[in-house]
Amino acid sequence: MKDCLIAPSILSADFARLGEEVDNVLAAGADVVHFDVMDNHYVPNLTIGPMVCKALRDHGVTAPIDVHLMVSPVDRIIGDFIDAGASYITFHPEASDHIDRSLQLIKSAGLKAGLVFNPATPLHYMDYVMDKLDVVLLMSVNPGFGGQSFIPGTLDKLREARAKIDASGYDIRLEIDGGVKADNIGEIRAAGADMFVAGSAIFNAPDYKTVIDQMRAEIAA
Ligand code: DX5
Ligand code: ZN
Repeated sequence: MKDCLIAPSILSADFARLGEEVDNVLAAGADVVHFDVMDNHYVPNLTIGPMVCKALRDHGVTAPIDVHLMVSPVDRIIGDFIDAGASYITFHPEASDHIDRSLQLIKSAGLKAGLVFNPATPLHYMDYVMDKLDVVLLMSVNPGFGGQSFIPGTLDKLREARAKIDASGYDIRLEIDGGVKADNIGEIRAAGADMFVAGSAIFNAPDYKTVIDQMRAEIAA
């Protein structure tokens, strides 16, 4: 399996000091910036858009930015995020009218593309687009808010997704998002994840490096 990536979700960062927060979490050892986009339509919350992504790039952030779209419709915001400097764009298949087209829009700009599966969304949405996926993201909470508890049934779903990815022969990351903490990341890793989003567990901690180091130690154990 690939090297594991830690992707702090800036949803739990202090938005009044966002550039500094991102600098700090990257200096603490994060690999990727997870960027949660909510539209108060697909999910009952409203967050940040392409202008904030671009602002982070202008601020000097060079790390990959992992844009998690919780919006409907999907396609008309993809171009703006490409222009804003996104590295990954993932979306929820049930929010897109044409899943293959949305993936092609992302891939054709040279970005990494992925599908996001809510806790009750079946994995078969990936079946006919495996060749266009760079990442499969499993939600381990219902999308919309940080600070929720990990839904334990996601571990079986992770194993199922890992088996599908391995059987496909494609080079696809398996990302997990929601309720990830230092004390459950080991079993999440064992179930097959190789990219870990954590919001409240990192940004609510007094020292980001301590938590990220703990997470890496649990992953390696
Ligand atoms: C929820 C978001 C997550 C969230 C994770 O809809 O997609 O990225 O910020 O937050 P924690 O790690 O606190 O569950
Ligand atoms: Zn997310």
